[in-house]
Amino acid sequence: MNESLETLQQEVLERIHHCNSETEIEEVRVETLGRGGRLTSMLRGLKDLPAEERPRAGEQLNRLRKLFEERIEDRFRQIKEQARAKTLKDEWIDITLPGTRWERGRIHPLTLVMDEIIDVFWGMGFEIARGPDIEDDYHNFEALNIPQDHPARDMQDTFFVSNGMLLRTHTSPVQIRTMESRKPPLQIIVPGAVYRHDDDATHSPMFHQVEGFMVDRHITFADLKGVLTHVLQQIFSQDTGVRFRPSFFPFTEPSAEIDIQCLICGGKGTILEGQTCRVCKATGWLEILGAGMIDPEVFRFVGYDPEKFSGFAFGMGVERIAMLKYGIDDIRLFFQNDLRFLRQFG
Ligand code: PHE
Repeated sequence: MNESLETLQQEVLERIHHCNSETEIEEVRVETLGRGGRLTSMLRGLKDLPAEERPRAGEQLNRLRKLFEERIEDRFRQIKEQARAKTLKDEWIDITLPGTRWERGRIHPLTLVMDEIIDVFWGMGFEIARGPDIEDDYHNFEALNIPQDHPARDMQDTFFVSNGMLLRTHTSPVQIRTMESRKPPLQIIVPGAVYRHDDDATHSPMFHQVEGFMVDRHITFADLKGVLTHVLQQIFSQDTGVRFRPSFFPFTEPSAEIDIQCLICGGKGTILEGQTCRVCKATGWLEILGAGMIDPEVFRFVGYDPEKFSGFAFGMGVERIAMLKYGIDDIRLFFQNDLRFLRQFG
């Protein structure tokens, strides 16, 4: 008995010592102290011993049980502490390091100006319509009263795609598309990209326009003047001077170009000490809009009766307005995506 107890004690303590995980130690506990464990069986065997041996053997076995329980408990605690120390070491982070900065984007200056223009019209009850960037000749030219060999086609150097399709040179085709599918009254704006074969400091091959038109019975040139004067004074400032000059567009009659007083020289044509203003070329005025009363010929293309209906239309260049508003002298800055430029807005 004594010898076997000693072996048991040695073996169990040895095994506890070599345990490296909570599972291992649990295994040893079950094998030794569990229901069918080695020590438990021995304790159960006590009753078979002769009466005089029982107290001593019982005492020894109980001592062993206490010893095992203590050692298991100790080893268990050690293992947990080691695991925790390892986690702390492995998962250590240096909270003094600088973090990853989240850059916030900004709204592009063209989008800002476009939204502002749309807001003004929205406030006056205009609807927003859109049309395709890739257009057919009929909507971009023909139905706008610009026939095949009309010299007015030269006003807009066109990018042709293939089989009669082209990149729209203005947003005016959306006038046609809208009127083809709807009846007056119409009060609509068309913001969008347009394309022309042109590329320098003030012309970009892709730029943006906001087209607008109003069609109903009894719309007159006075409505055109009233609406556009109000809109320009909202976009620029309440006291900006506005001037209407006679002009020509094949799809409007009469036609006008609309100028605002130069924002740089305030309409004087000169800046500091009599130097001429380069932005308005000393004229004191900046051309900002093309407009006119919709030509009866256009109404005939879309099946409106020009005896019953009349309307006005206009188109403005968004880049030009943005350049004037922010004092930008090169249109290409809008499309180079230089963050040093873009960060100044919005
Ligand atoms: N479509 C013309 C242009 O791009 C502008 C315009 C629109 C003029 C509507 C009159 C009426 O130059």
